[in-house]
Amino acid sequence: MCGIVGYVGQGKCKKYVIDGLKRLEYRGYDSAGFVCIDQKHKQFNFFKKVGHVQELEKALHDLELKSSIGIGHSRWATHGIVNELNTHPHFNCDKSIAVVHNGIVESYEEIRKKLIESRHEFESSTDTEVVAHLLESLIKTHKTLKAAIVDLVRQLKGAYALVFLFEQYPDQLLLIRKRSPLLIGVGDDEMFIASDVLAFCDQTNKVIFMPEESFAIVKKDQIELFDFEGKALIIKPQEIDFKHDQVDKQGFEHYMLKEIYEQKRSIDRSISFCKFIGSNNFNNLTHISDNFLTQEAKIQYQDSIWSQLGITSEKIKELKYIYLIAAGTSWHACRIAQFFFENICKIPTYVYLASEFGYMPFFPEENSLAIFVTQSGETADTLEALRVVNSCNVFTVAITNVPSSSIVREANGFLPMQAGPEISVASTKAFSTQVSVLFWLANRVALEKKLIDIEVMKAAEEDLLLAAEVLEISIESYKWEIKQTLAKKYSKYNRFIFLGRHISYPFALEAALKLKEISYIFAQCYPAGELKHGPIALIDKETPVILFSSLNDLIYQKLVANAQEVKARNGHLVTFVFEGQQELIELSDYSFIVSRVNPFLGPLAMTGLMQFFIYQITKELDRPIDRPRNLAKSVTVE
Ligand code: AGP
Repeated sequence: MCGIVGYVGQGKCKKYVIDGLKRLEYRGYDSAGFVCIDQKHKQFNFFKKVGHVQELEKALHDLELKSSIGIGHSRWATHGIVNELNTHPHFNCDKSIAVVHNGIVESYEEIRKKLIESRHEFESSTDTEVVAHLLESLIKTHKTLKAAIVDLVRQLKGAYALVFLFEQYPDQLLLIRKRSPLLIGVGDDEMFIASDVLAFCDQTNKVIFMPEESFAIVKKDQIELFDFEGKALIIKPQEIDFKHDQVDKQGFEHYMLKEIYEQKRSIDRSISFCKFIGSNNFNNLTHISDNFLTQEAKIQYQDSIWSQLGITSEKIKELKYIYLIAAGTSWHACRIAQFFFENICKIPTYVYLASEFGYMPFFPEENSLAIFVTQSGETADTLEALRVVNSCNVFTVAITNVPSSSIVREANGFLPMQAGPEISVASTKAFSTQVSVLFWLANRVALEKKLIDIEVMKAAEEDLLLAAEVLEISIESYKWEIKQTLAKKYSKYNRFIFLGRHISYPFALEAALKLKEISYIFAQCYPAGELKHGPIALIDKETPVILFSSLNDLIYQKLVANAQEVKARNGHLVTFVFEGQQELIELSDYSFIVSRVNPFLGPLAMTGLMQFFIYQITKELDRPIDRPRNLAKSVTVE
């Protein structure tokens, strides 16, 4: 959601900014813009286009733009419709200050009103434009640029990553960060700016993650960093291990398909990482290599997992409550994990939707642990919820796929997943890796609390690897049938009902979300037991019911009864079942049959097949699978 790319250095500004914006396309956007200072005329040159970055690239293609400083932005509309006027960069009155912005300036209306009274004129409906005008007016009333910036950030409420370019200072960029990530890549006589490391990861591996509430004046060979009071900060670049080839499609038609197929490896890698944390120096590591998988475990199950999480073994032993907080797919992973923590660790576990968390009473208990689960580590709702919990003195841990993300800096401890970069907007491998890591963690907590012994722990790890294998093999077993007949058939329906019970209910929620977000087909999900309380009125031949079975015998019997309710009303029933679940198979119009696994890992085993089926339905409909309409990969606004 929104991307910032900036450059100051050696004249390759246009190329770097456009390439960088393309790399951030996966985050979702609806228009893009670029501004640079033309070396010849020493003035701004700017371009804005609605639609893809390619449109902006075309507009710039034939222009001889010699520039060594500039910024680009991809916008995901929040304030004002999608048009060129609202596209960034935005400017002050005489167009001598340009700014791009990620986030939301909450105080923009009152600031705008005051500025209009003092005769500022606005071209757009955005919150961003007021920032350029406000800085213009503050520069006039303060002695130094630094003093104006300190006053500016005092007046700006909300979340923002801002990058400014000034005609008056053609060799420097101004960067401001509050609650929205902003990074500086340090090169040789050049600096790369971006809101996501992907934009410049093959230009340099030296990165400065701007600290929360800081601003920086960046020249090609110098960075001055300050806190919001204007006090100088010293911060050294970190080395990152991240290559752009990690995000190639590698021959797959879509990232989503590639990522569906990467799941087994992502799970294997993540579990290896969890097991061996501390046996080597893996802290601050971005992604482990596959070679790592071949290493023998020298030291297993040591306390280093707790130091990775920033917590002590004693605290784990005393744990009385767990809170799981997340959004979207990550929330579904948490809903599944609730069954792990409550059944395996015997710890009451509460699952919260991050977007609701700030508006509900929260009763923090002693000896509790709050786990925030987020693929991107940048979801604004999840970060806001984290800030609330942090202020309640509850220990917070982030489980994320992006170790350089904001949540890692704000939580008390973190556990990096090893899913590898996930580019498709629809989360696939991040979901299965989250479920796997949470299952591993639940067992590890149970081991610490002496609820299970080491043999059970090892068996749990083997179960995970087996479930990951079933996830992959099931796709292969149904691949041709789905491609040749099933996808075509089911892409013709306009609506679906999804059902699950117990642990298969949150999984059904995830399946329904997947179908909705990429195919735009309407899907409603219910706990199967609720059918008779209302939704059963919707059952007809035109509304296929997709039901996900369970390996829990009692739940299975209840699901058979629910399937009968559907069939008794002439419903069309598709089931995802486990081997030997004959009654369900016989009731179904079509059944996907998956090998049996540890009952807690039933959803994990079905994940690949469910995602592949939905992917192929969507392909039939010719939708932009990796970048569905209206959606963004990182939802960085509340
Ligand atoms: C999943 O397919 C979604 N696109 C979305 O629900 C996502 O899971 C949600 O926005 C949370 O993102 P996060 O895991 O990066 O916090």
